[in-house]
Amino acid sequence: MEVQEAIRKRRSVRKYLDKPLPWEYIGRVLDAARLAPSSGNIQNWKFIVVTDPSRRKKIAEACLQQRWMEVAPVHIVVCAEPKKAIQFYGIRGDRLYSIQNCAAAIENMLLTATDMDIGACWIGAFDEGMLKSAASIQEEARPQAVVTLGYYAEYPKEPVHYTIENVAFMQRWGSRIADIDAVMGNYGNKLQRHIANAQEIANVKKQKLSDQIKNKIKEQIDKRKQARDEKEFFGPTK
Ligand SMILES: Cc1cc2nc3c(=O)[nH]c(=O)nc-3n(C[C@H](O)[C@H](O)[C@H](O)COP(=O)(O)O)c2cc1C
Repeated sequence: MEVQEAIRKRRSVRKYLDKPLPWEYIGRVLDAARLAPSSGNIQNWKFIVVTDPSRRKKIAEACLQQRWMEVAPVHIVVCAEPKKAIQFYGIRGDRLYSIQNCAAAIENMLLTATDMDIGACWIGAFDEGMLKSAASIQEEARPQAVVTLGYYAEYPKEPVHYTIENVAFMQRWGSRIADIDAVMGNYGNKLQRHIANAQEIANVKKQKLSDQIKNKIKEQIDKRKQARDEKEFFGPTK
C-alpha cells in the first residue's frame, strides 16, 4: 500500500474480533515504531506488548474504563524514557521531545497496522499510576499511550476533517492560501477554471458583437423603410 493510501485509510478502530493476532503482525508494528524519527536519534522509547487477557483488562480499567479495549487481542504500551532526553536536552527534552518522539513512533505503528489491513487505536486517556502498575512499568519511565491492535469487526467511517485552507497559512500566521489548486498541483482544475473564464469572456464578446450586428441590420431596415415611405408619400422624384 502506498503511504498516501495508508494515511487516508487509517481509522481509530474500537471494535475488534476476539481472535489472536499472528506475531508477525506485532513484529512489523514494533519494527515500524523503532524506525521513527527522534530528537538527536536518542530513541528514548520502550514498547510493552501485552496479550495476556487479565493484564489487558487492567489496562482497559486504567484507561478510564474504556471497556472495548479488552476485546483487542494486543495492547502495546508506549513508554518514554525521559531521563535520556533530559540528559541531552534538559527541560525541553523532558516536556517536548520525549512526547514527540513517542508520538512519531505511534503514528508509524498506526500506519503499519493500516498497511496490513488490521485495526489499531491510539489511546491517550489513562490514569498514569494505574497503567504503570498494570504493565509493571519501571518508576523512571512514563507511559505515553496504549496502542490497541487486532482484526477489526467494524471499520469506522471517515471523521470530519478541516480543509487545508482552514488549517494552513502562507508565509505568516493568518495569511490564507489564495489558490489551493496551485498549492496542491491540481493543474487540471486550474486549467479548467481558466478555460471557463475564457469561455465567459468569449460569450460576453459574442453577445456584444451579435447585438451590434442586429442593431446595424435594424438601422438599415429602418432606413430603407423610411425611404420607401417617403417615396410613397411624395411620389417618385425625377
Ligand atoms: C493523543 C491522542 C489521544 C487519544 N486518546 C484516545 C482515547 O483515549 N480513546 C479513544 O477511543 N481514542 C483516542 N484517540 C483517537 C482519537 O479519538 C481519533 O484519532 C480521532 O477521533 C480521529 O479519528 P481517526 O483516528 O479515526 O481519524 C486519541 C488520539 C490521540 C492523537
